[in-house]
Amino acid sequence: MIRLDKIIVLDFGSQYSHLICRRIREFSVYAELVPYDIPYEKLKEMNPKGIIFSGGPSSVYNNGAPKPDSQIFQIQLPLLGICYGHQLIVDNFGGRVKRANKEYGHSILTVDNGSSLLSGVGNSVRAWMSHGDEAEKIPENFEIIGHTERSHAAAIANKQQSIYGIQFHPEVVHTENGVQILKNFVLNICKARQDWTMESFIEKTVSDISKIEGNVLCGVSGGIDSTVAALLIHKAIGNRLKCVFVDNGLLRLNEEQEIEKMFRDNFAVDFTAVNAKAQFLGKLKGVTDPEMKRKIVGEEFVRIFTDFAKTHGPFRWLAQGTLYPDVIESGVSKGPAAVIKTHHNVGGLPDWLKLEILEPLRELYKDEVRKVAAILGVPQKLLARHPFPGPGLAVRIIGEVTEKKLNIAKTASKIVEEELEAAGWYDKVWQAYAAVGDDKAVGVVGDERKYGNIVMIRVVESIDAMTADWTRLPHEILAKISNRITNEIDEVTWVSYVVSSKPPATIEPQ
Ligand code: XMP
Repeated sequence: MIRLDKIIVLDFGSQYSHLICRRIREFSVYAELVPYDIPYEKLKEMNPKGIIFSGGPSSVYNNGAPKPDSQIFQIQLPLLGICYGHQLIVDNFGGRVKRANKEYGHSILTVDNGSSLLSGVGNSVRAWMSHGDEAEKIPENFEIIGHTERSHAAAIANKQQSIYGIQFHPEVVHTENGVQILKNFVLNICKARQDWTMESFIEKTVSDISKIEGNVLCGVSGGIDSTVAALLIHKAIGNRLKCVFVDNGLLRLNEEQEIEKMFRDNFAVDFTAVNAKAQFLGKLKGVTDPEMKRKIVGEEFVRIFTDFAKTHGPFRWLAQGTLYPDVIESGVSKGPAAVIKTHHNVGGLPDWLKLEILEPLRELYKDEVRKVAAILGVPQKLLARHPFPGPGLAVRIIGEVTEKKLNIAKTASKIVEEELEAAGWYDKVWQAYAAVGDDKAVGVVGDERKYGNIVMIRVVESIDAMTADWTRLPHEILAKISNRITNEIDEVTWVSYVVSSKPPATIEPQ
C-alpha cells in the first residue's frame, strides 16, 4: 500500500473550499476536502500532515454555527484557518470575534513580525477579502503576523504550536502570492512531501484495484473519463474487466467507428460494441419533449447494460468515470452548503444486478484525468476532443429525432469542427456544434425557390460548463461555415449563429 502525504481541508461551506485543494494539488501534494463534522478518530485515521479549516458563510458566535469535533483543535498537527476557519481558531483558543463592516474585495495586507506562513510574499500585498466578522481580540499565545486597514488581526499565529489563521483567501487568484502562503504552510510548516503525481496516482490506484475480486463491467462512451477508468482497471485486473460501448445512433459523424477503432488499435481491453441504433431511434420515434427524450435514452442504456450483464456476467462491479467535482457536488463530501445535485453517471440500474460501484477517478479533477490519460497512451485526438452530452444528438435536435435531422446535425457539426480546426480555433473553445429543429426558411437554388431547414451554430467558451460565453468568431470563419453547410447539405437553406450566453441560456438547446 502506497501512502501519500496529505492535507485535509475541512469544508465549512465556502464557495472557494475546493479551490484550496486544487491549489495544493497543483504543487503536487495530495489534498482532500472532507465535511467539517468529520469525527476526530476518522480524521486521525486519514493520517494527514496538516489541517486547513475553510471559509464559510456562518458566524462563529451564532447558535448552530458549524464547529469541528473539538479534539481536532488539540491534534498536535499544523492548523491553518481561512476566513471563517480563522475566526473558529480565534474563538476556540479564547479570543473574540465580532460583527464588523463587511470587507469584500481587495485589501492591502501588511506583513508584520516575520512568520514562516507569510515568508516570501512581500511586505505589502493584495489580499482577497470576503467577510462580515473579524477577530476583535486574539487568543493568548497568538501574535498578529499581518493586518489590513480594516482588520487589525488579518493574520495570526501561534508559532510554537504551528496554528495559523488568516482572514483573507489565499486560494483565489486575486490574492497576490496566495499560492506562496499555501506552499509555506503545506511544504515548510506541515513538511508534506510533493509526492502527488499522476504516476503515483496510477501506481496506487492499480495496486488498490488489483485486490478486488470478481468481474467488472464498464460502459465506455469513447469520452476521456470512461476510457481512463477502463484503462486503469484493465491494468489492474486484465480481462476480468469487460467494456461495453453502445452505439445509440446519436453520436457525432462516424464516431462509432472511430471509438471502436481507437479501442481495438490502442488498448488490449475486452471490448464489445453493441449496435443499438435501431432500438434507440425506434423508442424516440414521435417523441418531441426534451425531458422525455433524455429519459428514453437513459432507460435504453440501462436495458442494454442489463442484457449485457446477463449474457456476459456474472459481474460484481460496475465501473464509472465519476470525477472529484461530481463527488463534491453530490454532497458525499460536502460541508454545510446545500447539496447541488445528485450525480449518477449510470442511474437506475435494477437492484437485482446488485453491482458494487467502482470509481477509480473519484479523487481526480478533469485536468488530472487528462494527465493520467496521456501517461496511459490515450491518443491526443481524444484528449483534445470537445465534451459531448450523454444523451447525444437527442438534445441537439429540437423536436422529434429523425434520420433526416440526424444527418443534418452530424454533417453540419462536422463542418463546424473542420473549419474551426483549420482556422486554429477548435482548441480555444469549449464546444462547437450545429443544432437543428423543424423551423424552415426559403432559399433559392438556381432559379428555384426551396423550403429548407434552419441550422443553428453554437460555439461557446467556458472554464467548467457552469457558465459559458458565446464565442466571437471572426466573420470569415462564420461565412465559410455557412457556405459549406448550404452547399454540402441539400436540406439546409439558412444558417444562424447563436449569440446567447449561459446564463440565461444553457450550452445545449435541450
Ligand atoms: P448545459 O446544456 O446544461 O450543459 O449548459 C453543460 C455541459 O454539460 C453537457 N451536458 C451533458 N452531459 N449528460 C452529460 O453527460 C447530459 O445529460 C448532459 N446535458 C448537458 C453539455 O454538453 C455541456 O458541456
